[in-house]
Amino acid sequence: MKALFDVSGKTALVTGGSSGIGAMIARGFVENGVKTYISARKEGPLMETAEALSKLGECIPLQADLSNVGGIESLVGEISSREQHLDILINNAGANWVVPLDEFPEAGWDKVMSINIKSIFFMTQKALPLLRANASEDDPARVINTASIHGFDNPGMPAYAYSASKSGVIHLTRHLATDLAKDNINVNAIAPGFFPSNMTKAAVSNDTIYQHAVSQIPRKRAGEPEDVAGTAIYLSSRAGAWVDGHTIVLDGGQIAQSAKA
Ligand SMILES: NC(=O)c1ccc[n+]([C@@H]2O[C@H](COP(=O)([O-])OP(=O)(O)OC[C@H]3O[C@@H](n4cnc5c(N)ncnc54)[C@H](OP(=O)(O)O)[C@@H]3O)[C@@H](O)[C@H]2O)c1
Repeated sequence: MKALFDVSGKTALVTGGSSGIGAMIARGFVENGVKTYISARKEGPLMETAEALSKLGECIPLQADLSNVGGIESLVGEISSREQHLDILINNAGANWVVPLDEFPEAGWDKVMSINIKSIFFMTQKALPLLRANASEDDPARVINTASIHGFDNPGMPAYAYSASKSGVIHLTRHLATDLAKDNINVNAIAPGFFPSNMTKAAVSNDTIYQHAVSQIPRKRAGEPEDVAGTAIYLSSRAGAWVDGHTIVLDGGQIAQSAKA
């Protein structure tokens, strides 16, 4: 049982791996011996993260816009030209759009839905040959989707497309998991609470908002890299091999508290 959480020797792709939660998961993988591809649109932050992580292990940056199927196909094509198989797919790239209900624009709805949910479906679809290639009964391939606690609650901000998309991620995770079990591919999701990232930088950079956000969390702190990397490693290792179709809420107790209220 000593190697229960061992993920060394595996190959992973972390979408949105250039910053925030994706970079945290990528670092956890790289430091634990996973050959880790990271993808994002903006070259600068992508290269910077890959350079930093390459000092700790193997990290390969690939630039891609995943909001459309063409971008997804070219990313999967690039990985297929380098790898025979993919053991772990982290569908993490995401965006938010916060505008009051009366003014919420179609462009915001489409942008958020394209990256937060459509890309998860098509990334998984296009990566299936790579995921099936090395998957076995004993060691299934793993797809891990980044959902959010706001897929369960009212976010307390006018993020209508975001909360709807994240709720969709939770259900798509269940649907894909039951269909892909026969292929030895596990599909799970992580629903993070508050983590410092580009997406939450407005809250992180304002001490009053930050302290308020943290005060809403029973554990009285924001999420840290070890929290999300540890959960991704659990789901990717022997320890998590029988977990399938579930969403692990990773929020320091926030959702449980609001259910009580
Ligand atoms: N931070 C939190 O508190 C929190 C809580 C719950 C859930 N989440 C979820 O966690 C995930 C990561 O978000 P984050 O908070 O870490 O924010 P972040 O720092 O803004 O990271 C988002 C990542 O997604 C990439 N991305 C965005 N649009 C893309 C596109 N069209 N194509 C390809 N890549 C794209 C970004 O790179 P480029 O912009 O260069 O493309 C970046 O790497 C998201 O799914 C988010 O909804 C975050």
